Amino acid sequence: MIRLIDVADDHDMRQIFEVGIAAKSHDQQWFAPISLDSWLIHMRRPDPEDAQELYGFFDPAGRCLGSSLLFIPLQDNTDKVYSVVDVAPEHRRHGVGRALVERNVQRAGELGRSMLFAETLVPGVADPDHPFVKFARATGFSAGWDEVARHLSLPVPPERLDELATATAAHVGDYDIEVFVDGVPEQHLAGLAELLSLLAVDAPSGDIEFEAEAVTPDRLRRMAAREREQGRTHLSALAIHRSTGVVAAQSDLTIDAGVEHANQLGTFVHRAHRGKRLGMAVKVANLRRLHRDRPDVRFVRTMNAETNDHMVSINVQLGFEVVEVLTEWTIDIAPAGDRGAPAPSAIGS
Ligand SMILES: CC(C)(COP(=O)(O)OP(=O)(O)OC[C@H]1O[C@@H](n2cnc3c(N)ncnc32)[C@H](O)[C@@H]1OP(=O)(O)O)[C@@H](O)C(=O)NCCC(=O)NCCS
Repeated sequence: MIRLIDVADDHDMRQIFEVGIAAKSHDQQWFAPISLDSWLIHMRRPDPEDAQELYGFFDPAGRCLGSSLLFIPLQDNTDKVYSVVDVAPEHRRHGVGRALVERNVQRAGELGRSMLFAETLVPGVADPDHPFVKFARATGFSAGWDEVARHLSLPVPPERLDELATATAAHVGDYDIEVFVDGVPEQHLAGLAELLSLLAVDAPSGDIEFEAEAVTPDRLRRMAAREREQGRTHLSALAIHRSTGVVAAQSDLTIDAGVEHANQLGTFVHRAHRGKRLGMAVKVANLRRLHRDRPDVRFVRTMNAETNDHMVSINVQLGFEVVEVLTEWTIDIAPAGDRGAPAPSAIGS
């Protein structure tokens, strides 16, 4: 049976957490889990801009065999729902995954959305015979686009970072490159929010269009407060255009408490400031700071569409190497007209 999980229920939440950890530990050689406490903070305080609904598949004895998390944007991209489905390794091939996807399709229709997204992550290069890819096709998904996950072993030799910084120096003279830890000063929040809202618009995504995301200074403040509570370290490198104060480029690294790697989040250069090596400049600044503050971090993980030539070329110059391919899958959802009355929604409750 599938049921909506009350995120305040400690017993159910622990079971769902354990299914996710078991699935990812089984499938991803490098995977290092965050703590239950950190995950609970994240799940119990979602941004009001994105609703979340969590479902569990339970056997008659009340054991959770699989989970499904839906992200439902409320202020932008309101035609879409994003999903993550995990089935415990020992309960695969019994229809749990299919049942969860069918429920997600139904729910997306009830919400009046026209596209359901899901991701598969497979080692090495794209593999049409990988079980997760077969599962996605068998449950009705079509491939949207591929992203490549790369890892960078640390430390990067300091002379290599010096060399790359020197190569950017002639181009970045009009900018101050600064790194902020665990929150960006108030005067830069509006500029940073503007850049982050456009990231999904400008990043390659096959034929699928994304609207600008509703990122605001207030949302950034809330995210920073939540990350501090989770014990997550967040390095934000910004390029500030000296004469106008415009935030011209940004790059973010996060490190969860108790894990050995950093996640590279977005890197974005303002449309009016491209072609000046600012992407490399902010990445090098962040890596130098990471080496200084967190010599315990062993690698950085990043993910980009392989068609994103500029970003991929920066990553290859830094020494990132391919580890996995992530495919974004979509299902077109039929209009909700034939689906009967909408089920009660967790949104806003
Ligand atoms: C992918 C995943 C969710 C599948 O869960 P599952 O409960 O084993 O899937 P199901 O038993 O419902 O399989 C449904 C269909 O998918 C295909 N499939 C699933 N696993 C497969 C495998 N190992 N080999 C070949 N086909 C497979 C089959 O067509 C299957 O139907 P069938 O059993 O009638 O032949 C699970 O392996 C998992 O948690 N993977 C990690 C996370 C992930 O990749 N999620 C998928 C997002 S799209």
